[in-house]
Amino acid sequence: MSILFYEKTKIFHLCNQEFSYIMMVLPNGHMGQLYCGARVHEKEDFSYLFERMHRPMTACVFDEDDTFSLEHTRQEYGVYGTTDFRHPAVEILQENGSRLLDFKYQGHKIVAGKPSLPGLPATYVEDDKEAETLIVTLKDRVTDVSLELLYTIFAKGGILARSARFVNGGAQSVQLTRAMSFCLDLPDAEYEWMQFSGAWARERHLKVRRLEQGIQAVDSLRGNSSHEHNPFIVLKRPTADENQGEVMGFSLIYSGNFLAQAQVDTHDMTRVLLGIHPFGFSWKLEAREEFVTPEAVMVYSKEGLGGMSRVYHKLYQKRLARGYWRDKERPILNNNWEATYFDFTQERLVELAKKAKECGVELFVLDDGWFGERSSDFAGLGDWVANTTRLPKGITGLAEQIEALGMKFGLWFEPEMVNQDSDLYRAHPDWILKTPDRHASLGRHQHVLDFSRREVVDAIYKMMAKILREAKVSYIKWDMNRSITECYSSAYKADRQGEIFHRYILGVYDLYERLTSEFPEVLFESCASGGGRFDPGLLYYAPQGWASDDSDAIERLKIQYGTSYVYPISSIGSHVSVVPNHQVFRNTPLHTRANVAYFGTFGYELDLNKLTEEEVTQVKAQISFMKEHRHLIQFGDFYRLSSPFEKNITAWMVVSEDKTEAIVGWYKVLNGVNMPYSRLKLQGLSEDMVYQITVDGQELSGNYYGDELMHIGLLTSDGSAGELPHGVRTCGDFDSRIYVLKA
Ligand code: DGJ
Repeated sequence: MSILFYEKTKIFHLCNQEFSYIMMVLPNGHMGQLYCGARVHEKEDFSYLFERMHRPMTACVFDEDDTFSLEHTRQEYGVYGTTDFRHPAVEILQENGSRLLDFKYQGHKIVAGKPSLPGLPATYVEDDKEAETLIVTLKDRVTDVSLELLYTIFAKGGILARSARFVNGGAQSVQLTRAMSFCLDLPDAEYEWMQFSGAWARERHLKVRRLEQGIQAVDSLRGNSSHEHNPFIVLKRPTADENQGEVMGFSLIYSGNFLAQAQVDTHDMTRVLLGIHPFGFSWKLEAREEFVTPEAVMVYSKEGLGGMSRVYHKLYQKRLARGYWRDKERPILNNNWEATYFDFTQERLVELAKKAKECGVELFVLDDGWFGERSSDFAGLGDWVANTTRLPKGITGLAEQIEALGMKFGLWFEPEMVNQDSDLYRAHPDWILKTPDRHASLGRHQHVLDFSRREVVDAIYKMMAKILREAKVSYIKWDMNRSITECYSSAYKADRQGEIFHRYILGVYDLYERLTSEFPEVLFESCASGGGRFDPGLLYYAPQGWASDDSDAIERLKIQYGTSYVYPISSIGSHVSVVPNHQVFRNTPLHTRANVAYFGTFGYELDLNKLTEEEVTQVKAQISFMKEHRHLIQFGDFYRLSSPFEKNITAWMVVSEDKTEAIVGWYKVLNGVNMPYSRLKLQGLSEDMVYQITVDGQELSGNYYGDELMHIGLLTSDGSAGELPHGVRTCGDFDSRIYVLKA
């Protein structure tokens, strides 16, 4: 990996074995983009890539050179209105009303490793040799605002992390009204655009379409990254697929309002923008104040979507997630939510826990309803003290009982919220986000606390820390069950109201930071009505997240498959729940529910006492299977084999680093009769190793070379009746198999 600067040509070349990123200082002092893609040789002069031509009539030119128009120039951090008409990366409202900017190159420095971003989650290094960072400083002469563009290239993988830092060096205040984290101008538009969208209970469904002239975008204006769209997009060449071809992922390490956009101009140049959503955003910079954008991470891969995903998985698992749990197998848990909802007593919980222990569960989680006057979702949020009618010995007593059973104890919180019917609200009705003289809308009967205020975060921290200090709590599920409306903070002046959405998220990060540093061994799982805030920002604090409130195995195929494009398997909260399923009322076999949930953190979201003896035996076997294989599943290399967005069959697999072990998950939605023969081509194995295979615990006769399994495929045919090639049982609807391969 190296970052090179050629003084004569004013060219920067960031590169490692797989990737090159080349920029130059343009004749007007702005930063120009020359190339982003597969590694090319180092050389001094790439200035021929600064293409320009005289475009008669329409182009406005910068100075007298009629070939130099910013509109037709690829830039690093575009500004609007000085011959460029595309959506810009930055906009600053100045005291005289102007929004024009002219950021000119001042200098740069190259530092080993990667600086952290104050108050913000970001990727990191453990050794300075893992990455190098280029900081380019530019300045706008009129406002005296300086801009630092930060670029980190990692030693391995086509990874580029970017952020921007603004410092107001002038005497007058300015308003930053747009400050994107990432701006990339590409020379063509031969791409397919992929987004991961949905709604509550059907998050991160893959949508693909051809990139076209005009603007395509996904965003969130809900105060969280949202169920609706994930802060992640992919541009792939139309011929690229899972295993080959050029793809570029763009992921924003942020949990609030975001915009991810591609604008293709009429000359087919593509501008990608990623960052805090400019709508409604402004940030006042008084003299000498600074603003740092969140980080965005681009991954370039020549090895298709699978190659890109595996780079993100390792990066986010090892160099975004942190702390005690980062590299550890995740405990198998039993959560009481779908078993009891609000209807529980201490005795009932202990009954659930005893059965969980008997089955091999390691962590018992008490969900919503344990605090204040919370007997329904109308009351109690904000009062983080145990309800002693339900839990006579409080959380301390319950945790002790669970620990005495030989399990760890986990607890649910929704720290950012308050019900009107709560002591906290009665004492501080002004602590909610609310616009003066206007109605404050409710969501799930609750208001959003004003986390832009330090004293509010302090108060919640005190209540949570007290419980964590007193009781043996090993896990926290941190929920967030509504979007933000009427966003306004009475603690800030009018000219700072555009900052509140971002300040709110900074408050959330601050609380996470305080709790995770004080209680480093507590495992945090993020949640927002399921997957409403499943984003890289929270992965920095909570190495796993509840992927969706939809726990139906068939629905989960799409949700988990979509999630896997960027997020590691160790981060995907996935549980077995009861049938008929509580969200879609579907009946799926118990083995399929487990076979899907294995590919995540794994746990149960049901009352194990209500299962038949035979089912309990199955659950015990599932738990011991997961204990045996979870390291491979959660930390191995993940390959998508067959997409639920295209086919009736979903399949994926994980392979160990040394390729001696692999596990394949194979899922059939609906059964057919008298169906064609079928094969599944595996991935990631060693061509030369010979593998022994078991299907659902039953050994297949014969041994198979890796090349056979990858090029010919694994036979998966299942006739509607009769003997199968390998003696595998026939399938029904919603059926599945797990294949375990050992070299
Ligand atoms: C929404 C979560 O996603 C559920 O798992 C559960 O914790 C409920 N909130 C509790 O209110």
